[in-house]
Amino acid sequence: MEDKIEVLISEKEIQEKVAEIAEQIKKDYEGKTIFAVCVLKGGVVFLSDIVRKLYPLDVNLNFMKTSSYKSGTVSSGSMQIHLDLDQDIKDKDVIIFEDIIDSGNTLSILRKMLLRREPKSLKICTFLSKPSRREVEIPVDYVCFEIPDKFVVGYGLDYAEKYRNLPYLGYVCTE
Ligand code: IMP
Ligand code: MG
Repeated sequence: MEDKIEVLISEKEIQEKVAEIAEQIKKDYEGKTIFAVCVLKGGVVFLSDIVRKLYPLDVNLNFMKTSSYKSGTVSSGSMQIHLDLDQDIKDKDVIIFEDIIDSGNTLSILRKMLLRREPKSLKICTFLSKPSRREVEIPVDYVCFEIPDKFVVGYGLDYAEKYRNLPYLGYVCTE
């Protein structure tokens, strides 16, 4: 049976907000090269939109794939790396691009791991944040939208690997 998806944030609102965040980043990184780290798979739609809005800033595109060990739907403190960066980030201006920060566990571990590689700077840019779900404090530099504690899909985010290609953000109706 088809799931019913309700729109939470429209395609137009997303595009406007992503453009606004891109303008901020362009100002902050003027004359620099951004070493962009996309966290797969969820971050890929956001990253591909925002990097084109960052042009003509120089962006070096990179990908990582991680997974946290989960018990039920709650992520724990450990993380597995399925795909690591193929370039050194020492002395680079790194920005991590994420789809969503929920408990903060995944990004907190990833951030510490990348800091050990001595980048010149390391910032975090997330499409979504669910502040009410935070278990660990994490410095987030750019946030497109803060959302309530709801399971959302679309614009990179999935439900059992479906809906990543929805151009808007929605939630699956259970009634
Ligand atoms: P956490 O911040 O370590 O709890 O985990 C964040 C990860 O959980 C994200 O990168 C997503 O893959 C997944 N996630 C959390 N909330 C949602 C949601 O509402 N929809 C889809 N995936 C989610
Ligand atoms: Mg993710």
